[in-house]
Amino acid sequence: MASHTFELNGEQITVEAEDDVRLLWVLRDLLGVTGPKYGCGLGVRQACTSHINGKAFNPCSVPVSKITPDDEITTIEGLPATVGKDLHPMQEAWLDPDVAQCDYCQPGQILAAVAKVRQATADGREIEDRDLHEIRNICRCGTYTRIREATKTGAKNM
Ligand code: FES
Repeated sequence: MASHTFELNGEQITVEAEDDVRLLWVLRDLLGVTGPKYGCGLGVRQACTSHINGKAFNPCSVPVSKITPDDEITTIEGLPATVGKDLHPMQEAWLDPDVAQCDYCQPGQILAAVAKVRQATADGREIEDRDLHEIRNICRCGTYTRIREATKTGAKNM
């Protein structure tokens, strides 16, 4: 067992875990952070999508030993605090069109959308359909049309 230190949702934390345990299980089972969902464990369904240093990643695919003390991990639980509000604008945007159906994939969908908008902004442009096509998070309820509508709305308010 080894100690692993990193920033999680704005707080520096240290957790004891074997080096090869995937971060998703450290978050969910050891730290009780259950926003990132288990979909496939292979980075395919992407239900666990979270942020590392502001970019989307899949914690199911990363051993905890690869996370360094300087790394900032953000899950849906910590997303509102990144803008100092009760809800992030992308979460607000999800409410009106009533995006979620079963909701299982939605934390990951929202975090993927936020990361995509940030990437477009960093490139000096607005989010476009080609960006939305690149989001590969699977929704077995098929809410893709509402996800895209909400992502465009959320992008305007970010
Ligand atoms: S809302 Fe059910 S899997 Fe996406």
